Amino acid sequence: MATDGSDKSVTIEALMNEQRTFAPSNEFTSQANINSPSIYKDGEDYEAFWAAQAENLHWRKKWTQVLDWSNPPFAKWFVDGKLNVTESCLDRHLEKNGDKVAYHFVGEPGDERTVTYRELYEEVCQFANGLASLGVSKGDRVAIYMGMTIELPIALLACARLGAPHSVVFGGFSSDALKDRIIDAEAKVLITCDESRRNGGTIALKSYADAAIADTPSIEKVVVVKRTGAKVEMKEGRDIYYHDLIKDQPKDRPATETDSEDMLYILYTSGTTGKPKGIVHTTAGYLLGASFTHKNIFDIKENDVYWCTADIGWVTGHTYIVYGPLANCTTSVLYEGVPNYPDKDRFWDIVEKYKVTQIYTAPTTIRTFMKWGTEFPKRHDLSSLKVIGTVGEPINPEAWIWYQQNIGGGKTPIVDTWWQTETGHAMIAPLPGITTTKPGSATIPLPGISADIFDEEGMSVPWGGGGYLVLTHPWPGMLRTVFKDPQRFIDTYWSRFSKPEENKWIYFAGDGAKRDTDGYYWLLGRVDDVMNVSGHRISTLEVESALVDHLDVAEAAVVGRNDPITGQAIAAFVTLKGHVVGNEDLINELREHVAEKIGKIARPASIVFTDELPKTRSGKIMRRLLRDISEQRQLGDVTTLANADVVKDIAARAAESASSKED
Ligand code: PRX
Repeated sequence: MATDGSDKSVTIEALMNEQRTFAPSNEFTSQANINSPSIYKDGEDYEAFWAAQAENLHWRKKWTQVLDWSNPPFAKWFVDGKLNVTESCLDRHLEKNGDKVAYHFVGEPGDERTVTYRELYEEVCQFANGLASLGVSKGDRVAIYMGMTIELPIALLACARLGAPHSVVFGGFSSDALKDRIIDAEAKVLITCDESRRNGGTIALKSYADAAIADTPSIEKVVVVKRTGAKVEMKEGRDIYYHDLIKDQPKDRPATETDSEDMLYILYTSGTTGKPKGIVHTTAGYLLGASFTHKNIFDIKENDVYWCTADIGWVTGHTYIVYGPLANCTTSVLYEGVPNYPDKDRFWDIVEKYKVTQIYTAPTTIRTFMKWGTEFPKRHDLSSLKVIGTVGEPINPEAWIWYQQNIGGGKTPIVDTWWQTETGHAMIAPLPGITTTKPGSATIPLPGISADIFDEEGMSVPWGGGGYLVLTHPWPGMLRTVFKDPQRFIDTYWSRFSKPEENKWIYFAGDGAKRDTDGYYWLLGRVDDVMNVSGHRISTLEVESALVDHLDVAEAAVVGRNDPITGQAIAAFVTLKGHVVGNEDLINELREHVAEKIGKIARPASIVFTDELPKTRSGKIMRRLLRDISEQRQLGDVTTLANADVVKDIAARAAESASSKED
C-alpha cells in the first residue's frame, strides 16, 4: 500500500469503454492445443488439475502429496517429489530430438549461433562440471550478471543441474545494485561477460562486476564469458575465462537430485521499500507452471519457432525463454540487442528470417514501433506468425489493435498475459483457441488459477466494478518466500486481505483492476509506490534514496507519471541543500547519479527543483499531488497540506520544465 499515508483511498476508475471483441477463428480453434472450455471446469479442482498436468514433467521420484498448505502462506507443492529441472528441459529430449534446434542465437552485430538440444545439453554439462570444479555444490548461490548471449541460458541451466540456485541480476543494473544483490544472496560465484553488446556499443560488465565484488566477501570465483574479446582485468586465482573452464570438461554430468521444494532461483524485484526483495522460486511447481502456460498460451507446436524478446535478467526471460520453452522442447530465438539496430526493422527481419511463429514482447516496445511507423514491419514477410503476445504492463487498446493489424496480419490471436516475478508464470491470459479477446484486457484467470477483485474491506466486488486484484488459492509457481525475510513475504503479500483466524489466505498482487460484466479483467497498474517503466518495476523509494545519496540533495520525492511510450516515466522533485543552485548541469548530474546507484532504467525523465515538498500535517509527502502536477492535471484538494502554497510554486516550475523540454 501507499507508504506515504496519503493515497489510502485509491480511486480506481473505470478506465476504458472498449467494446470490440475478437473470437478465435474456427480454423485456429480446430488445431489448438486447448480447444474446449471444459478445461476451466477441470481447473476448479485445482489440486487434481495440477497433479494431472505434473505427469508431463520428468520425475525421479513421484510426489506423495500434491499440495501441503498446512502452514500458510508457506506452500509446498508435490511433496516428497524428486527431480532435476534440467532433466525435463534437456535429457529427456535427447533421444528423439537431440538434433532439434533449442536456440537460434542472434547477436546484435549479426553473428549467429544455432544450438541443438544435444549441443545445449553438452555445454550445460561442461559448465556444470566446470562450476563444480570451482567448488559449487547443491544449495550454493551463484550470481549471474551477463548480456543476452547464448551462455546466459547455459549458465542458468548449469546451476540448476547442480541444484545451485541462481540469482540473475539484469545486465543493465549498476555495480551498486549488483553488489547489494550478491550480498543479500551470499553468492559464492559470479558469472559475467567481458562486455555485453547493446545498441551498437558495448557495456563494460566485467569492470562493473569488479567494482561490485570489491565489497562482497562471499564471492570466491568469477567466471568470465568472452563476448567481445575486450581486454579486461583478470584477478589471479579468482577470475577464470568460461571457455578455459569448460574446455576439457566432460560433456556429460549426472544431474544432482533435488526436492520439489528445493530452491531453483532467487530473483530480486523492487518493492515499496528501498531494499529489493529476493523472490524465491522452487523447482517442480515452477517448472510445471512455466511449461503448461507456455505451451497453451502460445499454442506451441512441434515445429514452431518461438521468440520472447525479454531479457533473461527479468522473470519473463527465466520463465519464457529458458524453463518453459525448454521443458516443451521448443525451438526459440534468442536475440541479444535492441529493436533498432542497425535499423528499426531488426525484429521483423528476424521474424522473417527464422519464420518465427510466436512473438512475445512488451507494450512499451509495441508503442515504440507505432511511433516509428508501419513502413518497418511492411518491409518483411511476417506471415509465419500464429500467436503474438504481450506482457509487463497494461496495453492500451490502440496499441493492441496496431499490433494485431500490423504484426499479426489482422488475424493472429493476441495473448495479453498478466503475471509477476512473484507468480512465476502467467496467471490471467487468454487461451487462444477458446478465448474471445478484448483489446486491453488480459481476459480471465487461466485454468487452475483463481483471482478476484476486492474492495478496501476485502469484500469481493461484483462484476462491473473495480478494486484490488487478489489471488484466492495457491498455485504451483507461486513464490515460496522472500529470501531470508519470511516476515516481509507475509507482510507484503498475505497481510492485506487474509483472515488467518478463518484460515482464509488471500494473495494481494499490488495491482488495481476492473472486472467487466463478462468477468474480464482489465489491469489498471500498481496501487503501491512501485512504478512500471517500460514494463520494469522500480520503487519510488529506491530512486529517492539514490537521489538523497547525492551530496547536494536535501530531500527527494519521486512519482511515476503517465508516458505514452514507456507506460510510466519517473518524475522527481528535489529540494537542494541551502547553498546549492539547481540548474541543467545538476539535473544531468543527478540523473547520472541515479544511473550509477541503480541502473540507467531508473534515471528520472524529469527533475524539478523546489524549495519544499508538499507534505501532510503529519509530515508525509503527498505523492498523489505530485502525480497530478507531473501530469498537469487539475489539482485536487490541498487542504490537508501543511504547506499549501508550495504546490502552486512546484506546479509552475514543473510546467516551466515541461515547456522548456518541448522547445
Ligand atoms: O503491475 C503489473 C504489471 O507488472 C507487474 C509485475 O512486474 P514484474 O514482476 O517485473 O513482472 C513483469 C513480467 C511478468 C504487475 O504487478 N504487469 C505485468 N503484466 C501485465 C501487467 N499489467 C497489465 N497487464 C499485463 N499483462
